[in-house]
Formats: sequence, C-alpha cells, structure tokens
Amino acid sequence: MLDQYNRHINYLRVSVTDRCNLRCSYCMPENDPCLLSHEDILSFEEIREVVATAVSMGIDKVRLTGGEPLVRRDIIDLVKMISGVTGVRDLSMTTNATLLSHFAGPLAEAGLHRINISLDTMDPEKFRELTRGGDIRKVFAGIRAAKKAGLSPIKVNCVLAENEESRDAMDLKNYCLDNGLKIRFIKQMDLKSGHFSVVEGGSGGDCRSCNRLRLTSDGKIKPCLFSDIAYDIRVDGTREALEKALRNKPEKGTVSYRNCFHSIGG
Ligand code: 5AD
Ligand code: SF4
Repeated sequence: MLDQYNRHINYLRVSVTDRCNLRCSYCMPENDPCLLSHEDILSFEEIREVVATAVSMGIDKVRLTGGEPLVRRDIIDLVKMISGVTGVRDLSMTTNATLLSHFAGPLAEAGLHRINISLDTMDPEKFRELTRGGDIRKVFAGIRAAKKAGLSPIKVNCVLAENEESRDAMDLKNYCLDNGLKIRFIKQMDLKSGHFSVVEGGSGGDCRSCNRLRLTSDGKIKPCLFSDIAYDIRVDGTREALEKALRNKPEKGTVSYRNCFHSIGG
C-alpha cells in the first residue's frame, strides 16, 4: 500500500507486551508513566486479525517486539498463528535474548525466520549496570541457541549514547564479526525532544523511506514512532484503524510525548 507521500508501506511492527525482564536506563523510566493495564492487552486472536487484515492491504513483513516479546505467556503459540497467515513473507523478532536459550528452537519451529538482539556492551559489569541487574551470560547462551536453531540472519542492535567512547562498540563489533552476526548501531533517541536519527546498517529513522506501521500491545495502530497519532482497533475497527493510520502517516517524525520505547518496541 502507498501512503500520501508515495511511500510503499509493507512493514508492521507488533508490540506483544510492554513488560520487560530488564530495565535498560534509556528505555525504562524509573517511574513509569506509560505502563499499560493488563485488561487492555490484545488477545492472540485480536493480534492475528490485525496481521491478517494488514497483509490483505499489502503488509508482508512483520516484526514482533515488546517490551520483551519472550515474556508474553505462550508466545510460541502466537508465532505459530502469525506465521500461519498466508502472505507473511518475513517474520522476525526483536529481543534482549536473555530468555532465548529456551525459546530459540521452538521459535524457529513455530515459523519465525530471523531475530534481532539488543545488546550494547560485551562487558558483564557494564551490562548489569545498564540493564539494572541483567546477566550477560544468558544473552550469549541465547545467541548460541539462535544460531543452532537456524534463525538467520542474526542482527545485533547496539544503542550508543551521544558522546560515548567507542571501546564497547569496537569489542561488540569484533564479537559479531567472529560469530557471523550483523551489527547495527543506533544513536540513543529521545522521543520527547524529537532527537532521532538514521539507524546505521538498518532501515529505521529515515522518514523519506519509512515503510512502517506499528501495533501497540493495547490495540493502537501508530503510523510513526515520533508522533502521538494513534487509532484504536477496538474503537475504529481493525481495517479502519489501519486505513486511518496509513492516510495520516506524517511526512516526518517530530516529537512524541506519549510513546515510550518499552511499550512501542523501538
Ligand atoms: N534510543 C534508541 N533505541 C532504543 N531502544 C530502547 N530505547 C531506546 C532509545 N532511547 C531500542 C533497544 C531495542 C529496542 C527495544 O529499542 O535497543 O533494540
Ligand atoms: Fe527491555 Fe529492551 Fe527496553 Fe532494555 S531496551 S528495558 S531489554 S525493552
């Protein structure tokens, strides 16, 4: 489908939960202004219906995000349901990989094609600090399991703070080279100030070629990360919400006061 700026929209990012088992300081605020309440969270059947409707309109690429998608109960069943929608050509997930050693095999069997892993450092202490308590060994175990399961390609997303010296980045880059992983560096963004940028080695952040719509875990279709425009599938109906989001996708992102990374999935 084409939007009013002639962009070809074929990518739907689906946030399946706003919860996460880590607390990265740049993503999860200490006092959370946007935690969703459990009763608003979409059922698997509702999510499947949004994906199926979006596919009928021209979406063929779907990514599951969070929060952390692997903390959503029965996530494997959801992956099966979505990979079973005819027309989903590319099904991927963004995860922090801490639970991936258990899930990689079942995810691949359920029809997931590939995976992006969020990892900002190779240093166990720094990782613990940054994620407020995470264990980096679980991430490495998760990456090994993903390779074994044949999820491919495996991409590593590394968020860099503005003036950070790049020792961590170099170590991570070398680790990725040695292990056959693709690495992408993302500048730390601030939704409220409108500071966003192109993802190096990726496709995000370039408004002119943006091909995305988003579904939040409580059923809002959002045409842009850096905007508060949203249409509720339970109010407008699925097709209408998707159509409205397409029609009103802004030419450029500006600022968002309501979006939080952990509820929209980066
Ligand atoms: N700036 C850039 N990326 C972010 N993410 C979370 N918060 C930010 C931020 N402030 C990314 C994570 C992960 C995904 C969930 O969103 O690195 O890849
Ligand atoms: Fe969780 Fe990812 Fe946010 Fe870190 S960046 S708190 S792992 S959702």
